[in-house]
Amino acid sequence: MNVSAVRRDFPALEDRPDRPAPVYLDSACMSLVPRAVLEAMEGYYRDYPGCGGRSLHRFAEEVGRRFEGAREAFARFLGRADPNGVVFTRGATEAINLVGQGLPWKKGDRVLISDREHNSNLIVWQRLAAERGIRIEILPVADEGGFDAEALEPALARGVRLVSLFHTSNLDGHSLPIREITERAHAHRALVLFDGCQAAPHERVDLDRLGVDFYAISVHKMLGPTGTGLLASTPERLRELRPLLVGGETVERSTLSGHVLRAPPHRFEAGLQNYAGVIGAHAAIEYLGELGFDEIRAQQLALNREISSAFAGEPRLRVLGPPDPEERPSIFAFSLEGIDANDAAVFLDEGYRVMVRSGMHCVHSWYLARGLEGNVRASFYFYNDRRDVATLTAGLREMLERIPGSGVSGTSAGTSGPPGRPARARPPAAGSRAAAARSAPPRGRAGRGRAASATGSG
Ligand SMILES: Cc1ncc(COP(=O)(O)O)c(C=O)c1O
Repeated sequence: MNVSAVRRDFPALEDRPDRPAPVYLDSACMSLVPRAVLEAMEGYYRDYPGCGGRSLHRFAEEVGRRFEGAREAFARFLGRADPNGVVFTRGATEAINLVGQGLPWKKGDRVLISDREHNSNLIVWQRLAAERGIRIEILPVADEGGFDAEALEPALARGVRLVSLFHTSNLDGHSLPIREITERAHAHRALVLFDGCQAAPHERVDLDRLGVDFYAISVHKMLGPTGTGLLASTPERLRELRPLLVGGETVERSTLSGHVLRAPPHRFEAGLQNYAGVIGAHAAIEYLGELGFDEIRAQQLALNREISSAFAGEPRLRVLGPPDPEERPSIFAFSLEGIDANDAAVFLDEGYRVMVRSGMHCVHSWYLARGLEGNVRASFYFYNDRRDVATLTAGLREMLERIPGSGVSGTSAGTSGPPGRPARARPPAAGSRAAAARSAPPRGRAGRGRAASATGSG
């Protein structure tokens, strides 16, 4: 892959007189947007800004054609034969809620999740447990990777209605074997829902072949605009769900006393849709398709190997998840002994223009169960290059040098316990935040005070 050429497609990576190029290592939160996506969205507002599926004029016809074209493209992209199994949503959270709040639960029905789900795949089940009496089964996942699908069996044998798991973890980037999980779940007549947010940007998924019932993604993590995502299912499965929202666009017809819902997927897409966003999302997957996932994976894995080996011998930096970057190709998450994760993020941004994520990454349950306050996550995408790794390395080295270790685990780091597993947190090391902030080269005061507001954020 010609990374220099690729980088030129991303306006946010431009070096500008008022703002030097950032080292953007937060793509797991939100990826950057290439010019092709920006142009596709602008094209909608500029050239055919109509309501799809309602009016009959040429703008409306064009929007309708492009919106449904996007649906077909996403179905192909995700290996779904029938585009009518694809429901556009505002993101993965809405897609998961569509399943959770849409299935006809009976009191005592069980849903199986892991011990490290994003809040988007946790809170909805907690609410259903409180309001509808469902039961939540928790599957522990090993921090070092090496998932043993056999571990599903006892829970499945007790009778589970839905298995709802991450495909790739947003904590550390490791993936679960979704084919095997699906097969085992189906053998016990359980449905499967995968949160594909962190997988779909990085690998080809072939949902029909895998037999996955429901797959949720957010397109803003794969070059698309914010507020775009989808649920990829089949029309048969979708028919079992009660729509979350009803109103305009969801009905064939209505009288003052009743209505007839449209067939899936349209019954789930209430109100005027995010046409520009969906058209932009389509451009995003076309861009990814042209690059190819082999190239994408190779690029980010090479960078992850480089940074992982740069710090392999550093006792104060502890990597989260499997030690081998091969098993977590897009994420390098770590804790630093004696340094608060949010301080580290501000230090890197202020001193080195390195943008990483810090905190609990919307997986509070995992951190709180371990008494941890969070960690730092650098996430790679194909537009990152070796200079990004070199800058991150330099920033981390300076931080480690200027902020002495306490000799024991810090606010977000641990020094004891097995590799890849952060030890329990201690109370914040006095002055570590101030020390981190003071140590940053003087690049203005923009970042001061941000650490506190980011603590624990999702
Ligand atoms: C694993 C995972 N699930 C769900 C979400 C939520 O996605 P969205 O913001 O599209 O609702 C995210 C986003 O951070 C995520 O990483």
